[in-house]
Amino acid sequence: MSNVDECYIEILRLVKQAGSIIREKISQRKDVLTKSCDVDLVTKWDQEVEKLLIDGISFIGEESTASGQKVELTDAPTWVIDPIDGTMNFVHGLPHTCVSVALLINKVAEIGVVYNPILEQLFTARKGQGAFLNGAPIHVSDEKELRKALVMVEMGTSRDPEKLKIVLQNITLLTAQVHGIRTLGSAALNMCMVALGGADVSFEFGIHAWDIAAGDLIVREAGGVSIDPAGGPFDVMSRRTLCASSMELAQQLSKILIQYYPERD
Ligand code: IPD
Repeated sequence: MSNVDECYIEILRLVKQAGSIIREKISQRKDVLTKSCDVDLVTKWDQEVEKLLIDGISFIGEESTASGQKVELTDAPTWVIDPIDGTMNFVHGLPHTCVSVALLINKVAEIGVVYNPILEQLFTARKGQGAFLNGAPIHVSDEKELRKALVMVEMGTSRDPEKLKIVLQNITLLTAQVHGIRTLGSAALNMCMVALGGADVSFEFGIHAWDIAAGDLIVREAGGVSIDPAGGPFDVMSRRTLCASSMELAQQLSKILIQYYPERD
């Protein structure tokens, strides 16, 4: 058994354990703190889940960097962890929330796991081995035309007026040009919806590495593509993401989006 095999078995065990905490706490009253702004929420359960996941491994984790320190992605095997993606949904009891974990070696994603313990959806991928939902293979929709696409997008947590203006301009311009727009509150699950073929494209500015590292691999292993929203190569630390069911669709969208460049992770 290779090192990556052992890592994969261990991370599935940990993610399931993390999911039990989310499942138990989602319907209970929670004390909620804020981070970068009033709508960037965190609970003690985000911190507890992250602690459970990182004990003993090299990692980049959302709650461990919440006090503002910069993270550095090196060539070393690195787990990139969002203990609870969709914390706002978790706080409100909306059952669309997940644990997101990726393993990067030499900055290349080897393992991606996204687990919604409320709806029991376990998305998994390993480099070169396909993508799965609860063990069954999944595939993107293969949609190539923007006008027929269902688009996932998020407002994000930043309330910077310049960023909000661009997000709303993009939503306005896209509304007339696509089948529909959805905003469900978890970037990792948005990407999994593209992997599943339930949505055709997902993009966001201002996202962090821990929100997208696992989703990126899951989408690509499901036959989709992941690029920078301006059309260049995907960069997990850039805080910009666009994934789609086909390169044709990804490039069509990238050509019309109004761009926003947040400070990198
Ligand atoms: C957030 C969610 C949300 C996205 C934000 C993320 P969190 O992650 O993925 O959908 O719009 O940009 O920060 O804070 O719930 O882990």
